[in-house]
Amino acid sequence: MRRLLLVVLCLAAPRADAQKFTELAKTPPMGWNSWNKFQCNVSERLIRETADAMAATGMKDAGYQFINIDDCWHGARDSLGFIHPDSARFPSGMKSLADYVHAKGLKLGIYSDAGNKTCGGRPGSRGYEYQDALTYAKWGIDYLKYDWCSSDSLNAPGAYMTMRDALAKAGRPIVFSICEWGNNKPWSWGPSMGHLWRTTGDITACFDCIKEMGGWRAWGVLQILDKQEGLREYAGPGHWNDPDMLEVGNGLTPNEDRAHFSMWSMLAAPLIAGNDLRSMPANVAQVLTNRDVIAVNQDSLGVQGFKYAARDSVEIWFKPLVGGDWAVTFLNRSSTPRAVNFTWAQGTKQGAGTTAGPLVATVPAKDVLMLRLHRA
Ligand code: GLA
Repeated sequence: MRRLLLVVLCLAAPRADAQKFTELAKTPPMGWNSWNKFQCNVSERLIRETADAMAATGMKDAGYQFINIDDCWHGARDSLGFIHPDSARFPSGMKSLADYVHAKGLKLGIYSDAGNKTCGGRPGSRGYEYQDALTYAKWGIDYLKYDWCSSDSLNAPGAYMTMRDALAKAGRPIVFSICEWGNNKPWSWGPSMGHLWRTTGDITACFDCIKEMGGWRAWGVLQILDKQEGLREYAGPGHWNDPDMLEVGNGLTPNEDRAHFSMWSMLAAPLIAGNDLRSMPANVAQVLTNRDVIAVNQDSLGVQGFKYAARDSVEIWFKPLVGGDWAVTFLNRSSTPRAVNFTWAQGTKQGAGTTAGPLVATVPAKDVLMLRLHRA
């Protein structure tokens, strides 16, 4: 009798409604990720040195928080199914690495995959979601990028929901980064599953090109920018379109670096640097730590910018900001400088320039002119 009663109670107990951690990523996440520059060459030494550099270069002061280890950190699962890091690359283990990063006032991110294998062929989380989430929480992980290789017959929203619920159950607030490349319209289900979702395939360090990778294509900055069309309505505080990590400092020209960073800021995109912070030239650091541009990206209104007009290879983008301000960016996509002559609808008189008269300027090739309009 007593036993029967117990069973009934269990069945009747309401299931706590699992949900993502809603207090995270109120503004687009800012940090660094190993993939764009280092691919599989990750190690605890690289991560520690990058955390040191994040603090020393002014990146941390500018708002960058996360140090994210991408693919290939994995060793094997043990006999109980628990995942361990590659012991040659991470001899001190993840907990000690997280402690190191936290002591610097930064946060540690990690990478896994919804399928059986990651894109780099390491163990994926399929079938181990709850166990892996628990392990990440125990290690002190703060951010999980969750990829879509070997996903075969998996249902995308279902697979990401499983990991979302597993993270919720593990109890540690972890930013959940959906990396499903835009295949199954993640913007339509992503907001309830995670904090950001990739909208496209992988970026490559090139301003205007498509790279054939043998079976798939990697996209240049302009190609990724064009793929954001129609997606701005899905982004907002706690849930962001992710046009992929930054290639600033990975071989673009200084003008292209500036244009790339400015446009990602206009898109309210996550700002995840992908260069070697330990040997960053001053001009690259200047782009990545530009406070005025970062303020546009991190604006608390959390509204993604939009393309207002395009003419003669120059696009004009607007982004509404808190308090009635606007960010305006003129993007010159072409390989030659372009003259800009833009007439504002209404005039005010304030600051360095005003909207009383037209804006007359030249935008260098593959570069931007970015302004902030402030109501006087
Ligand atoms: C996919 C992702 C990349 C990176 C690699 C790692 O291609 O889209 O961002 O994480 O896998 O193998």
